[in-house]
Amino acid sequence: MVAPSILSADFGHLERDIEMLNESSCDWIHLDVMDGVFVPNISFGFPVLKPVAKVARKPLDAHLMIVEPEKFIKRFADLGVDYLSVHYETCPKLRETIAMIRENGMKPGVVVNPDTEVKVLKPFLKDVDYVLIMSVYPGFGGQSFIPHSVDKVKELKALRKEEGADFLIEIDGGINLDNVAMLREAGVDIFVAGNTVFSAEDPKACISRMAEL
Ligand code: DX5
Ligand code: ZN
Repeated sequence: MVAPSILSADFGHLERDIEMLNESSCDWIHLDVMDGVFVPNISFGFPVLKPVAKVARKPLDAHLMIVEPEKFIKRFADLGVDYLSVHYETCPKLRETIAMIRENGMKPGVVVNPDTEVKVLKPFLKDVDYVLIMSVYPGFGGQSFIPHSVDKVKELKALRKEEGADFLIEIDGGINLDNVAMLREAGVDIFVAGNTVFSAEDPKACISRMAEL
């Protein structure tokens, strides 16, 4: 599955880019929400996401790179977000936050940064629908893939089997046509890609190509 990130879209022509994604074979649309506190960048919030949600005809996958995400869960649900992921590093009451996401009608995901071990997620693996592994330090599109991320995918896949869980594995950051096949082999189910898709000559063809690799 492919979840293009709109962080790399043309915000001067956002409706056009969302329509392109609607017509593409992508599975989800990845929304990178950044607060400038948890990550050293600010992206977009509800004034931008409201019209995006109106135009989008694919499931919305919101990735919250913000502190205190529990304060905004209901508002993302009201937008019509389908999948909502929160960072392990920002959720001292992670089990409660996951439950709140589900109570608000969304499918919960948990995200780990490159320097957070996947084993810390063990107690939560049966509570989430997906786990997002960051293969870059969050905050910017167009960064280079961090190689040890593939080991975390393999470790997470083994943990899923051990725990008898059935979450999807999503990866995010520096994903391109040269590393997708290796990562799928390692166990990735959903690929987030921003720069690779939006810098491609033909983004729709790039999305279909990623899904075939
Ligand atoms: C980075 C975001 C990623 C990023 C992916 O903080 O979480 O989703 O936009 O972009 P690329 O594919 O350009 O690395
Ligand atoms: Zn993201």
